[in-house]
Amino acid sequence: MKINTEIYLGDSKEVLKKLPDNSVDLIFTSPPYADQRKSTYGGIHPDKYVSWFLPISKELLRVLKPDGTFGLNIKEKVVNGERSTYVMELIIEMRKQGWLWTEEFIWHKKNCFPGKWPNRFRDAWERLLQFNKDKKFNMYQEEVMVPMGDWAKSRLKNLSETDKIRDESKVGSGFGKNISNWVDRDMAYPTNVLHLATECNNKKHSAAFPEGLPEWFMKLFTKEGDMILDPFMGSGTTNFVASRMKRNSIGIEIVPEYYEMVKSQINPVELYLFESEAKYEKVKLNGRVPIR
Ligand SMILES: C[S@@+](CC[C@H](N)C(=O)[O-])C[C@H]1O[C@@H](n2cnc3c(N)ncnc32)[C@H](O)[C@@H]1O
Repeated sequence: MKINTEIYLGDSKEVLKKLPDNSVDLIFTSPPYADQRKSTYGGIHPDKYVSWFLPISKELLRVLKPDGTFGLNIKEKVVNGERSTYVMELIIEMRKQGWLWTEEFIWHKKNCFPGKWPNRFRDAWERLLQFNKDKKFNMYQEEVMVPMGDWAKSRLKNLSETDKIRDESKVGSGFGKNISNWVDRDMAYPTNVLHLATECNNKKHSAAFPEGLPEWFMKLFTKEGDMILDPFMGSGTTNFVASRMKRNSIGIEIVPEYYEMVKSQINPVELYLFESEAKYEKVKLNGRVPIR
């Protein structure tokens, strides 16, 4: 299978306009968090965050296929002793823009550093917001099944009568469960909490996420040959994982240093320079799996 990886240098807000409508199966990204990492790639003030992000999410909505998914890794920081609310405001505004806020996964950073604060404990989790264009989206649930675990031996041992019939949700959600169906099974569907260490191979970017994160979402929402987009590419984790998993991908990065770092790692076989059309440089990799 021929796999393409395209990377662009520039502001996502502008570069995304070059991508065709309904062309991406999964957007997976971690944008800069409000006011964080000022010393490296700048920060956006929490009060300005939503208005900064909305023009980008508008383009993302356009380029995502109707059955595609947008996975957004984000976390609000503490300002003046309080959590800021910009992530919640962003969710509300994105819904007005036309997105469905389908699910929220939690990334539990199981190896976060020890620390002591006077009024709070260690911050050990980040949000992974799932947005969709339509209620019907591609989801390959069998690809992320997990071993049932020892807990099931005791928890599923003494089932009540209601556990043996389909127990319809009382709130009318249409969900129901028959727990007895799961007795003696080896595998179960996972929860919406992902336990992943923050440890990652890439030390050249201060905010790279672990490869396991995009990998899990790619398994769940895409298949081989699909198109993945990371509009805040950073060190290219999403793109390298996509390539390893035989998915096509596009990455956009505003900082030349990070862009050059990724470019040097993907051994481009074709190089396009769009010098007349602003400063975007597009590197296309045809049929090669990048080597880190
Ligand atoms: C949190 S980091 C992403 C890290 C990435 N997930 C990785 O594993 O390396 C966010 C990245 O977005 C880039 N960025 C910030 N604003 C941008 C914009 N408007 N367009 C494109 N990239 C941007 C930053 O330079 C930074 O590298």
